[in-house]
Amino acid sequence: MAFSVVLIILLSSDVVFAASLSDTENLMSNLTNGYNVNIRPAVEQLSPVDVSVQLYLKSIIDFDDVQGILSFTTGIRMTWMDYRLQWDPNGYGGLQTLSVPLSHIWFPQLFLSTPATDRSYFAESWSKATLSNTGDVVYLEMALIQSTCDVNVKYYPYDIQSCNTSFALLGYTKTEVNLMRLEESIDLTLYLGNSMWDLESTHVSVETIHGGIQEMLFTFNIRRKNEYSVVNVLLPILFLGTLNAFVFLLIPESGERVGYSITTLLAIAVYMTIIMSSLPQSSDPMPLIFYKLLVDLTYSALIMVVVILNMRLHGKDDNVPVPKSLVSFYLALTCTDCGGKAVSPESDGFTTDQIAKGWGESNSMNSVDAQKVTWKKVSSLLDTIFFVLFVVLSIISFAVFIAVMKVGA
Ligand SMILES: *[C@@H]1O[C@H](CO)[C@@H](O)[C@H](O)[C@H]1NC(C)=O
Ligand SMILES: *[C@@H]1O[C@H](CO)[C@@H](O)[C@H](O)[C@H]1NC(C)=O
Repeated sequence: MAFSVVLIILLSSDVVFAASLSDTENLMSNLTNGYNVNIRPAVEQLSPVDVSVQLYLKSIIDFDDVQGILSFTTGIRMTWMDYRLQWDPNGYGGLQTLSVPLSHIWFPQLFLSTPATDRSYFAESWSKATLSNTGDVVYLEMALIQSTCDVNVKYYPYDIQSCNTSFALLGYTKTEVNLMRLEESIDLTLYLGNSMWDLESTHVSVETIHGGIQEMLFTFNIRRKNEYSVVNVLLPILFLGTLNAFVFLLIPESGERVGYSITTLLAIAVYMTIIMSSLPQSSDPMPLIFYKLLVDLTYSALIMVVVILNMRLHGKDDNVPVPKSLVSFYLALTCTDCGGKAVSPESDGFTTDQIAKGWGESNSMNSVDAQKVTWKKVSSLLDTIFFVLFVVLSIISFAVFIAVMKVGA
């Protein structure tokens, strides 16, 4: 039994592994003998040679959105048929495949036509192609490709980038070599993912450009993973904008108001610089986030002006009478006449402390005096109004900003 197994193994190995070194040598020299690497493998030299190309995306290494460079590692597989490289395996001990240096055979060189560095072609002197006895040639290469990409950060951080990477076949026109795609999209079986970008979709097409030159066009649609940016970019914008309005709750006597306003104004300006440095300085199109920050900056400056003017009202001498129009405005808003209630500064929830501090004494001494409309009361009412107004404005502007981006992206 054991003997017959050994016999079978010996016999079968005799059949499969019969090719010897000299068989390979013979084959190599027979194939290269009289072979001209400069001539296209077309039996009928007026018809084109079909070359199929497929990309196997391994990883997206980096997408530099300031420079506009997409870097990725990929395998590229090119297949074509060379009738001069056919052989009968029986004549060479059963050899069915053979690896040969690319320089020994005709080879359609592809050039990266969107290069971001000076490296624009794949094949190296050590690159090899695999031949099979039917004449099929397969060339497989791994490469790190750095390609330019038009960046569009209008909807940052909810943006989708569409990058076109194209490879041109130079030296041959469509009538000589016919580029073909194997599939409509890039093969992703080897794809590992990227921590900052999601690959949404890919597309492959063949385009004929000027003068019959052909290009393989690979399109990568990538979407920014925006959790990071939402936490680090959008939330601070919301907080800065809302905090700004809280200046109206500061007690005027504390003398902190103008300092606080300037600090928030500067914080927004500094924040704008930081965001600008992490995005391309492009105005075509301008990122919406710049407009939002610009609105915030304007709004912050406006708050500062209002605070200063209101401080002047607050500090006005009480001997100067409050104009009638302001008095009626005050009475209307505090609803003095409704239900015969006395003027109650406490009805403005936000300014209770302020009023109590400045006006506690006279309040307790003489209720008629307390009901008198003074500059300080007018000023604190204005504080309340502006506080509510600016908080609501900042929340609305943030909500509109997010909605526009979500709809547009
Ligand atoms: C290979 O070439 C040698 C010498 O040119 C020739 O004798 C031999 O028959 C060829 N082999 C085949 C299988 O054609
Ligand atoms: C990529 O190429 C396609 C096909 O030519 C074109 O429609 C698209 O606008 C290009 N995209 C970019 C970002 O250039």
